Amino acid sequence: MRTPLPSDSHGEMRAMTSATTIPTPATTTTTPAPVTSPTTAPAAPTRVLAGVTGLGFYVPEKRLRNADFEKMVDTTDAWIVERTGIRERRQVAEGEATSDLAVAAARKALAQANLAAEDVDLIIVGTVTPDHYFPSTACMVQNKLGCWKAGAFDIGAACSGFIYALSVGQKFVESGSHRNVLVIGADALTTLTDYEDRNTCILFGDGAGAAILQPSLGGERTVIGTYLAAKGDNEVIVVPAGGTAKPTSQATLDAREHYLHLDGREVFRFATSTMRELVAKAVADHGYDLDDIGLIIPHQVNQRIIDAAVKKLGIETERVYVNIDRYGNTAGASLPIALAEAEARGQLVPGKLVVLCAFGAGLTWGYALLRW
Ligand SMILES: CC(C)(COP(=O)(O)OP(=O)(O)OC[C@H]1O[C@@H](n2cnc3c(N)ncnc32)[C@H](O)[C@@H]1OP(=O)(O)O)[C@@H](O)C(=O)NCCC(=O)NCCS
Repeated sequence: MRTPLPSDSHGEMRAMTSATTIPTPATTTTTPAPVTSPTTAPAAPTRVLAGVTGLGFYVPEKRLRNADFEKMVDTTDAWIVERTGIRERRQVAEGEATSDLAVAAARKALAQANLAAEDVDLIIVGTVTPDHYFPSTACMVQNKLGCWKAGAFDIGAACSGFIYALSVGQKFVESGSHRNVLVIGADALTTLTDYEDRNTCILFGDGAGAAILQPSLGGERTVIGTYLAAKGDNEVIVVPAGGTAKPTSQATLDAREHYLHLDGREVFRFATSTMRELVAKAVADHGYDLDDIGLIIPHQVNQRIIDAAVKKLGIETERVYVNIDRYGNTAGASLPIALAEAEARGQLVPGKLVVLCAFGAGLTWGYALLRW
C-alpha cells in the first residue's frame, strides 16, 4: 500500500508517471513526420520515452574545508563531520556565476551524447541562485554554449530543481515536440550563505550537473517516471529579503535578511520521512519493488538523514550513492552531480533501476525513476 506523503493533504501536484503513447516516432517542429502512403498499413503505436544520452558535472576549484570554518565561527571539524558527514565543499570564484558552472557541466554532457550545441532545441535550468533576476540563467547558458535554436527557461524548486527540470524535459521529449533537451541543475548557494551563522554556513557548496534527453524507444538509460510535489511554506527555508515581498534596503542588509535562513531541525524531520516515502513510492508507482533498485541517489543534505531513511527502508548502504563528504549540499546541483559521478565511477548497474529523490525549499519534493 502506498505510504501517504504529506502532499496528499495539501494539493498533490502529480506528474505523469508513464510515457505518452503517440502514433509515430518522435517528430520535431523542424522535422515533419513522413507522409504515410494510403496503401501502407497503419504503424503500431510507438511508445517514446526520454532517453538519458549524456551526463556531466562540474564543481568549482576552490575548496572550503571544515578547518576553514573553525576560523570563522564557533565550530569544529569533529562536530561538522559527526552531525552532517561533510568534510569539504566547493565555492565559486569571484566573478564565477551559476551559468558558468552550468555551461561547464553541459559541455561534458553534450560531449558524452555526441551532440553539437547548435542542435539543442530546449534548455531547462533548475536553480535558485540565478545569475540575475532576469535574464534567466538558461538564457545565459544558451548564449555561452551557442545553442542558437534552443528555447530556454529556469525552474525554481530549490533542492528539488533537477527533479522538476528533468520531469519537464521528459514531457517535452515524450510529446515529440523536442528532440534534444538539455536539463541542468546548477546552484551557487555559497553566495547566499551567512558566514557568521554556524547553523547554516557549514552546509552548502556550489556546483552543476547536466543531462541530455533524447527520444528513446525504451530499454536502458531511460526515464521511467517522475513525481513532483509541493507545500508552500516561507518559514522553514527562506531568503527573507531581496525579493518583492521585502525588497533590499539598508535595514534588510543590516538584519542579514538577504542570506539563507533555515530551521534545520524541521528540515531534518521532513527530509528523513520524505526520502523514505519517495523511494518506496517511486518503485511502487511503477510496479517494482525495492530489490529492483540498482542505486538510490538521494539529495545530499545530511549523512544522518540519508542513513536514517536507508535504515528504515532496509536497504544496504552499498546501493545508496553518497558524496556529501566532498561537496556538501549543492541544492539543485546535488542530484545531477551525484548521477554523473556515479556513472563515471561505474556504479550504475545496466538494466537496474536508479531512484533519484529530492526535497527542499518550497517546500518541494519529488522523485525520478530511471532504468539504467
Ligand atoms: C543543520 C543541522 C546539521 C543541525 O544538526 P542538528 O543535529 O539538528 O543540530 P541542532 O540544530 O539540534 O543543534 C544542536 C546544537 O549544535 C549547535 N550547532 C549548530 N551548528 C553548529 C556548528 N556548526 N558547530 C557546532 N555547534 C553547532 C546548535 O547551536 C545547538 O546548540 P544548543 O543545543 O546549545 O542550542 C541539521 O539539522 C540538518 O542537517 N538539517 C537539514 C539541513 C538543511 O536544512 N538543508 C537545507 C535544505 S535541503
